[in-house]
Amino acid sequence: MKTRDKIFTLLSKSDTVLSGEAISRELGISRVSVWKHIRWLINAGIPITASAKGYMLEPDEDSLTQFGFGDRKDRIHVYQHLPSTMDQAATLARGGCPDFTVVVAERQTRGRGRLARVWLSTDGGLYFTVVVRPDLPIDLAHLVNLAAAVEISALLRFTYSIDAWLKWPNDILVDGRKICGCLSQMEIEGGLIGFLSIGIGLNVNNDPGPVSPPAVSMKQLLERAVSRRKVLLDFLERFEARLSSINPPVLIEDWKRYNNTIGREVSVVTATKTYAGRAVDIDDQGGLVVEHDDGSRETVIYGDCFYN
Ligand code: BTN
Repeated sequence: MKTRDKIFTLLSKSDTVLSGEAISRELGISRVSVWKHIRWLINAGIPITASAKGYMLEPDEDSLTQFGFGDRKDRIHVYQHLPSTMDQAATLARGGCPDFTVVVAERQTRGRGRLARVWLSTDGGLYFTVVVRPDLPIDLAHLVNLAAAVEISALLRFTYSIDAWLKWPNDILVDGRKICGCLSQMEIEGGLIGFLSIGIGLNVNNDPGPVSPPAVSMKQLLERAVSRRKVLLDFLERFEARLSSINPPVLIEDWKRYNNTIGREVSVVTATKTYAGRAVDIDDQGGLVVEHDDGSRETVIYGDCFYN
């Protein structure tokens, strides 16, 4: 661990001011060196206050600097502004970045949703893309999208007691209002998955306002601000654990347990066609099975689902 990471860790574990002397003793470095590292951290945007008594990390739980991400720090790329985290993630992925590299942006100027829709990135939301390189056949790649949505919904449900429901393929709704959307992009290399970028827009501390379709944020539901850093870290832990031992039948079961699509009359819009009927199941690749009035069935692998 680098010295500045050690200093950040010491400060983050302390809820009072830490003197330069205490830090220098703990790390076996001079006080001048402590100050140089502190100055570096402050310049990197870490909210540290320096006083005659020493140094203290402001209790800014929401801060999204890479220093709050422990061992993941070197794989987290944080930006104040980006057109879209999807593009930056694709650039890093094509350059060979490691599995679970994450691109986060405080704001996106050209955030995008499925089917080329605009994704508004209002202040306080969590906008990120995770690059993964799963060891899966291409026809199971869609399961990775489902896994991301399952883990976000589990996080909302079990850590924050939010009554989150999955809408096929990977929207998350609370009381009919959208709290999270996921977008994925895949590149194939030599007939295998080269990488998958999973882009997630989660309404955390933002106020989505009166948009259509209706949306809601964690802050609005919980009536308090939530640490975006904690949400992101918890999600990454869950998602990585899920993918490291992915079990398709178990994943499908987990998705089914918390979905509210199956059993509904739906219209599924794809780039080429709209499928209308009753959603009756998802298949073992995560495709939605739609039954028509005459009893015939079609399976849709990717699209946008509307409840009728
Ligand atoms: C959808 O519901 O249509 C998907 C929305 C996905 C939005 C996220 S925000 C982070 C990432 N960057 C983007 O430009 N889009 C995804």
